[in-house]
This record gives sequence, C-alpha cells and structure tokens, in this order.
Amino acid sequence: MELMKLILLPLFCMCFHGHCAGTAYPHKSKCTIGNTKVDCSHMNLDAVPADLPKNVTTLDVSHNRLKTLSSLHLYSNLMNIDASYNSLTVIEEDLCLSLPHLQSLNMQHNEVHLISEKYLKNCFQLTRLDLSDNRLKLNGEPFSVLKSLTWLDVSRNTLKSAKLGTQPQLPNLMTLVLSGNEISVLQKNDFSFLSNSSAFRVLILSFLSLKKVENGCFQTIARLSDLVLDYSKISLQFTTSLCEELAGTALRNLSLKNTQQVTLSNTTFQGLDKTNITVLDLSSNKMTKIADGTFQWFPRLESLSLEHNSLKHLTKDTFLGLGNLRQLNLQKALIKSHTSSLPVIEDFSFLHLVQLEYLCMANTAFREITEHIFSGLLHLKTLDLSWSITGLKTVTNTTFASLQESPHLQTLNLTAMSINKLAPGAFSSLGNLTTLLLGHNFINQQLKGDELEGLSNIKEIDMSINQQCISLTNTSFIHVPTLRTLKLGRALKGTLDMEPSPFKPLVNLTILDLSNNNIANINAGFLKGLYHLKVLKMQHNNLARLWKTANPGGPVLFLKDATKLSVLDLDYNGLDEIPLNALHSFFELHELSLRGNLLDQLHASVFDDLQSLKYLHLQKNLITSVQRVTFGVPLSNLTDLYMDHNPFDCTCESILWFSEWLNSTNASVPGFPQSYICNTPNAYFNRSVMHFDPLSCKDMTPFKALYILSSTAVLMLLFTAFLAHFQGWRIQFFWSIMVNRMLGSLKDESITEGRYAYDAYIIHSAEDRPWVERSLLPLEDEKFNFFLEDRDAIPGFSQLDTIVENMGQSRKIIFVITEMLLKDPWCRQFKAHHAVHQVMEDNRDSLILIFLQDVTDYSLNRSLHLRRGMLKPHCVLNWPLHRERIPAFHQKLCSAIASTNRVN
Ligand SMILES: *[C@@H]1O[C@H](CO)[C@@H](O)[C@H](O)[C@H]1NC(C)=O
Ligand SMILES: *[C@@H]1O[C@H](CO)[C@@H](O)[C@H](O)[C@H]1NC(C)=O
Ligand SMILES: *[C@@H]1O[C@H](CO)[C@@H](O)[C@H](O)[C@H]1NC(C)=O
Ligand SMILES: *[C@@H]1O[C@H](CO)[C@@H](O)[C@H](O)[C@H]1NC(C)=O
Ligand SMILES: *[C@@H]1O[C@H](CO)[C@@H](O)[C@H](O)[C@H]1NC(C)=O
Ligand SMILES: *[C@@H]1O[C@H](CO)[C@@H](O)[C@H](O)[C@H]1NC(C)=O
Ligand SMILES: *[C@@H]1O[C@H](CO)[C@@H](O)[C@H](O)[C@H]1NC(C)=O
Ligand SMILES: *[C@@H]1O[C@H](CO)[C@@H](O)[C@H](O)[C@H]1NC(C)=O
Repeated sequence: MELMKLILLPLFCMCFHGHCAGTAYPHKSKCTIGNTKVDCSHMNLDAVPADLPKNVTTLDVSHNRLKTLSSLHLYSNLMNIDASYNSLTVIEEDLCLSLPHLQSLNMQHNEVHLISEKYLKNCFQLTRLDLSDNRLKLNGEPFSVLKSLTWLDVSRNTLKSAKLGTQPQLPNLMTLVLSGNEISVLQKNDFSFLSNSSAFRVLILSFLSLKKVENGCFQTIARLSDLVLDYSKISLQFTTSLCEELAGTALRNLSLKNTQQVTLSNTTFQGLDKTNITVLDLSSNKMTKIADGTFQWFPRLESLSLEHNSLKHLTKDTFLGLGNLRQLNLQKALIKSHTSSLPVIEDFSFLHLVQLEYLCMANTAFREITEHIFSGLLHLKTLDLSWSITGLKTVTNTTFASLQESPHLQTLNLTAMSINKLAPGAFSSLGNLTTLLLGHNFINQQLKGDELEGLSNIKEIDMSINQQCISLTNTSFIHVPTLRTLKLGRALKGTLDMEPSPFKPLVNLTILDLSNNNIANINAGFLKGLYHLKVLKMQHNNLARLWKTANPGGPVLFLKDATKLSVLDLDYNGLDEIPLNALHSFFELHELSLRGNLLDQLHASVFDDLQSLKYLHLQKNLITSVQRVTFGVPLSNLTDLYMDHNPFDCTCESILWFSEWLNSTNASVPGFPQSYICNTPNAYFNRSVMHFDPLSCKDMTPFKALYILSSTAVLMLLFTAFLAHFQGWRIQFFWSIMVNRMLGSLKDESITEGRYAYDAYIIHSAEDRPWVERSLLPLEDEKFNFFLEDRDAIPGFSQLDTIVENMGQSRKIIFVITEMLLKDPWCRQFKAHHAVHQVMEDNRDSLILIFLQDVTDYSLNRSLHLRRGMLKPHCVLNWPLHRERIPAFHQKLCSAIASTNRVN
C-alpha cells in the first residue's frame, strides 16, 4: 500500500499542477546556475540546497516539495524568490531579517494559512508579494508592515471580504489582485485600508460572484484608474450601481469582459459620465441587444470593444455620444446563428463616430453593405471587413461610395469576403487608399485596368489566394503606377508572356509576389523597367524550361533589370540549370531561395556577384559538390545557410572545402549535422558530412608530389630499359657512325671517291648464283663493274684476303638475302662483319640489301648483325613477285648503286 502511494503520488502531483500527460515536466537533477540566478525548479526538493553560490540574487525553487524555506538565510543577497508550487505552510518569521534585500516573493500555490504581522516584519524592501492560491486567514494587520509593497496578489484564497486591514497601510501599493475569492459584496469601508495609498491605480476583481456594491465603497480609492471585473458574474443591476459608485473616480479603463451581460440599457453606464473613462471592454458577453443611447455617457471614450458578442441590430443611435471614439472593435460582435437571419446594420449607424480612425468588423455577419452604411466616418483610416459575411459578390462603383466621406481612409481589408467580381471604378471613391487587401476571395475575371481606376495613392494591393482565376492584360495596372507592393500568389491563370509586360507601368514596384501560379511562359521583358524591385517571390511555378541552355533561343534571363533585388524566391520550380548570367550583378541580394529544385552542377561563377548574401536556401536539391569556385562568394558572409537534404558526394574534391567551412563558420546552419548526409562514396554513404575527414585530403599534398616524382622515375627507368633492350643497337650503331663521320670528315674527300676498282661487291649464297647471273650481271653491260667471288677471286689468295682486299676496293656491298645466305657460315661470321665495319667507316649508303625472300629483321640481325633500320630506305630492295615490276626494280637498284657514299 505504501509502495502504491509512492508510485502514484508524483503522478498525481504532476497532474494536479496542470502538467499532465504529454506536457509533464521532466525533473531536473541539478540546479541551473547562471551568473547570480539559480534555477532549482522541478527537482522534487524537500529543502533548499545549501551549496548554491552565496552571491545568488534570484532563486527559483518552484515546483518542488518544500515545507520550509529555512535554509534561505544562507543567501543574504537574495532579491527575488520564486517558491511557488510547494507545500509551504508559513512564511518564515525571520525570513526578511536574514534576507534584507528581498524585493519579490512568490508564494503562489502553497498552503499558507495563518498570516500575521510578525511573519512579514522586516520586509521593508519587499515590493511584490504573490500569495495567490493559498488558504490565507488574516490575523490582525499582516500587510501593515510592507511599506514598500507596490503589488499584492491574494487571489483564490477563499477570502470573504476585500478588506485586508482596518488601518490605512501599504502606502506605496499600486496594484491589488483579489480575483477568485468568495467576495460577493463590496462594502463601504472595504478599501479604507488603502486610503493613504496615493499611488493606488489598479484593482482586479476577476472571477468573483458580485451581488452588491455599497454606497461610497470607492471613495477612499478615488485615484483608481483601472478596474478589471473580467469573468465575474454580475447582473445588469450590479453594473449600473457599480458605475454609479465609480462616478467621480479617476477611472480610465474599465474591463467587463465575459461578465455575462446580455443586454445594455440607455442608463447602465450613466454613472460613468462623471469620469474621464477612455477604454471600455465589453467583449465576450453574449450580448444580443444594445439599447440606443447606451454609450451617450462616454463623451471621452477612445476605445470600445464589443468583440465576441451576439448583436443583432445596430441602429443610427447605437453609438450615440461616442464622438471621441478612435477605435471600435466589432470583431465577431454580430453573428448569424443557424436559426436567425443575418443581423442588420442600418444606414448611418456610424454617423456619430466622427473621430473614429480604426473600425474592425472582421468576422462579422450582416445583411449587406448599404449605400450609407459607412457615412459620417470622417476620420476613418482603417476599415477591416475581413472574413465578414455580407452577401457581397460584385464590388461596384457604389458599394463603397459611402466611404467617399472618409478622405483619410488608407487601409481597406476585404480579405475573404466572397467577392467574385470587381466592376469598373469599384474603388474610385477611395482616392487616398494606400492598402487594398483582396486576398482569399473568388475574383474570376480578366483585369482590364479600369477596376482599379481612381486608386491614385495606392501602395499595396493584395489579391493572393483567389482560386487562380484572375488573368492579366497589358493594361491591368495602368491606373495604379504608384503601387509598391503587389501580391498575386495563387491568383493567376492564363499567360504572362506578353509585350509589354502587365507590370511595366509599375515603375516603383518593390515587392512582387507571383508564387503558386504555375507560370511557365514569360519573356525577357517580364520585369522590364522595374529597377526598384526588392522582393520577388516566384516559388511554386514552372520556370525550369526558361533557364535551360537547350531552350530554343537560349535561356530566358527574365530577371534582367531587377538587379536591386534583395529577396529572390524561386523554390520548387523544377530548375535544373542556372544560366551563367542569370544572377549577374545582383550585388544587393540578401536572401536567395532555391529550395526543392533539381540543381546539381552549377557554373563556377554563377553566384560570384552575391557578395551581400545573408540567407541561402538550397535544401532538397541534387547538389553533390560544394566547391569554393562556386560557393566561395555567396558563403563568405552568410547569416543562415539551408542546404540540407542534398546527396552530397563526400570526396576531397567535392566536399573538402565545404566541410571545413561548416566546421569554422559563424553562420547558423539549421539541420547540421543530422540533415547533411553523404550519398557517395560508399565509405561515407548515409553518414553526416560532419564525419568527413579533411585530414585524408591534407596528407595527400606531399604524398601526391612524392608519388608523381617516384612514378615518373620508375617510368623513365622502364622506358630507358625498354629502349636499351629493343633499340640499343640503333643507339650503338648511330653513335659509331657519328664518331666515324667526325673522324672521316678530317679525311680528304676527293681521294675517297676515286679510289674504288669495283662498283659493288656482291655477296650471295651458292644457291642464288643463277639468280645473280640472270638478274644482276646484265647490269655490268650497262655501266657497272661488280666483284663476284667465284668469278673474280684471284686463285692462290686466301679467301680471307680476297674478301678484305676486294671489299675495300668496292664502292658498294650488295647482299642478296635469302634464308640460305643466312645459313652460310662464312657469310655470317666474316663477310657481314666486315661489311658492317666498312659501313661504319665509310657510310651507311655503301650497303645494299636485296631481299629475294621475306626474311624477318630478327633472323637478319641474329645471322648477319644487320637490320633494315640501319640502312637508308633506298638501299633496301625487295625482288618483286610480279614480273612487270622487274624493270622498276632494276631502276631502283641502279640508282642505289650509282648513289654517292658522301655524307649529305
Ligand atoms: C558569484 O559567485 C560565483 C562563484 O561562487 C562567481 O563565479 C560569480 O562570478 C559571482 N558573481 C558575481 C556577480 O559576483
Ligand atoms: C477629467 O479630465 C478633466 C480635464 O482633463 C479634469 O479637469 C477632471 O477633473 C477629470 N475628471 C475626473 C473625474 O478625474
Ligand atoms: C432611455 O430610453 C427610454 C425609452 O426606451 C427613454 O424614454 C428615456 O428617455 C431614455 N433615457 C435616456 C437617458 O436617454
Ligand atoms: C458607376 O458606373 C455606372 C456605369 O456602370 C455609371 O453610370 C455611374 O456614373 C458610375 N457612378 C459613379 C459614382 O462613378
Ligand atoms: C486583414 O485581414 C486579415 C484577415 O483577418 C488579417 O490577417 C490582416 O492582418 C488584416 N490586415 C490589416 C492590414 O488589417
Ligand atoms: C486625400 O486626403 C487629403 C488630405 O489628407 C484631402 O485633401 C484629399 O481630398 C483626399 N483625397 C481624396 C480623393 O479623398
Ligand atoms: C516613384 O517614386 C518616386 C520617388 O519616391 C516618386 O518621385 C515618383 O513620383 C514615383 N512614381 C510614381 C509613378 O508613383
Ligand atoms: C558581412 O556582413 C556584415 C553585416 O552582417 C557587414 O558589416 C560586413 O561588412 C560584411 N562583410 C563583408 C566582407 O561583406
């Protein structure tokens, strides 16, 4: 059973204190300590902690289970204590002795019962004392010691009387709150204890069931300026006598909100004509009838609220006598119940309100706007008819004709009045109107221009939310060139692609709202001449095509001329491109919103002129990379960045700069880090951009250089090795030639050319002899002289000597190459060697190869240490397969043999 209690008690307490269920306040475990403020509320404390800073001046120990405040004497600097919502039964006797600076003590919602002087003595500094929601029983004159008190609340203490003392006391009291007690009679001497309180001004008597007010009860507090009886149950008769008692007081404000008055007669407020009352609140009273002349007693009244009543009828004398009224609040004052017909406002009902400046008739229901309904409102500045039910369908040139008498009218609020048509000259009598609000209606027409004729001082027109049924023409706004604000959100149908643009006459336009219109077609002259435009709202349209590179004729730069823009909203337009020059020279742009588009790759310099940007919205796009080249300028001095919900590519190239910016910026980035998620690469997928490791990129820099260096070295080495392996012979060969050439150039050239006995030394295999005889020897007849071993060798000479001697005597050496030759050991080992040697000494041209068979370079090299590449191309000949080419072969051979060996 005990256990049950322990479990249930806290639950019960929480609910009892109005923090039930979902709103239950979580208990803290530690006090929050500010500089000299300490918050120990909601901690389930049984006693005030003893370990708080000694210099604490403001202490909140509310919502605990305190039974005593005894440990407070530790903190002698305390000035403000909130001990509300505890279980305190007394105010400690010596509290103010140990806390000499105490100014404000809140004991609301405790169980303080008996209270007498001794508990509050020494509280000289106390200015505010809240003892509401206790069980006070006053013993003697408990408050007589509170010399500095200005504000005293003893609401809801089941007090039977307003009389808190018999002796004059509380010399500085300004406000007394007695709400919610069991006071039913205000007796003659009830407030005599305040007779010396020269500052007393405010008396709050809300939530009482007052039956009677005795004669002279306010005499001792005639300085009273504010009397509040809200939510008290009072009869018409009580109200009448209350007003009589208030005669002669300094009353300025009387609040009778929700006091269950049902009707007011022409004498109810008679007593108040001997006051200077300026504000009267009669709201929420379910009043159905106000008799003519009821307000004749208020020649000085400035503000009257009849809000939230059930009036049925206003006549030309309802407001009789309110010649000084400035504000009249009739919001929901007249309503239509489902049984009754629409209330009636007679012509000239406001005739007496010659000083009225502000008339609010929002949410009222009345039969119709008649010809003279608003007559006589000579000083009217604002008329609010929003959401009123009047049966108005078409606004004609007579609807508001009665407002012609209100030359100062500036604001006409016709929001949500079921208007479906504006006739020509609808507002022609309102020449000084500056603000015309027509939003939330059903206007369905083409604006030709004459509808707005006569609005010669208009600054703002709001036609937003009109079911997208208004279409514009070139002339729609020709009569309102003074317009500065034009709101057409969710209002338009048809095209805006016209020349000249409907907005062209609006040279001073600063705010243009065209959001939610499905606009898809506009031309480059759309904002032509609107050099003062500051705010352009075009979210939720269909502008994607206009900015596409692929658009026929190129992108449409429709923002041209509007370079003074401060706010540009292009959310949800399906944009996937921003043309390079679209935001060119928007130096003053403060806020750019491109939420919910399809943007990914952006031109590097597209935002380069946005140096003044403070707010950038790019959330919910397809942005993968945020690089300095694109975002360096716009993010340089940002206040707020919204770029969450993009598929970021968390690689060094795409995100490094951004991740560093995010970690170092002073700008606020709502949703960071949890809504800034990497989409790629796999390593970072679904992780926050915050987790991107910038070090992984930083280390790259030296390593990269090293990597490039070493890989280059390896490649070079490889290259050299391959070169040496495959082309080494070439290097070696040409090197030798070069050396020999340099040596040879020292020799006398004339000797070398004339010293040969033969034109050519022919090397061939024995098997090819027939071919040689048949194909080469005939050339000897012409002009050449060959050396053939078998034929010309002198018998007796060694083969070796023959070769050396005669090769040296021959100007050229001809190899007749077949597979057989390659197998000839003499040829391989010596002739070729010698020939090559001679080539090096003389010249490359001295060697001629004739291929009778196709022999690979590889076997050629292996057998003869020769390669095709060693010789000049004209010295390498192939025996043709086709007979008809043989003469050409001979031709080539002749020129090869005849060619000089001279270096050229
Ligand atoms: C109050 O005391 C705390 C330490 O107990 C100290 O940090 C703080 O600065 C003091 N504040 C003032 C206003 O003296
Ligand atoms: C009302 O105001 C006038 C002028 O301001 C003043 O002379 C008069 O005493 C005031 N009446 C009351 C009852 O305060
Ligand atoms: C109050 O109205 C009644 C008629 O309803 C009229 O006889 C009387 O003169 C009016 N009193 C004042 C003070 O206007
Ligand atoms: C109102 O319009 C009608 C035509 O529709 C015209 O005859 C009349 O003169 C206009 N009245 C005013 C006050 O402009
Ligand atoms: C016009 O009425 C609407 C709807 O009641 C309200 O929100 C708006 O503040 C009003 N505007 C002015 C200028 O009174
Ligand atoms: C506009 O107001 C001025 C005074 O502020 C007044 O002289 C003028 O007649 C008014 N114009 C209209 C058309 O009401
Ligand atoms: C535009 O504004 C300027 C400066 O405020 C003003 O002089 C000019 O008359 C205005 N033009 C129109 C057509 O209202
Ligand atoms: C950044 O903005 C502040 C005001 O928000 C401004 O004072 C400052 O000059 C700006 N700095 C740059 C570099 O634009």
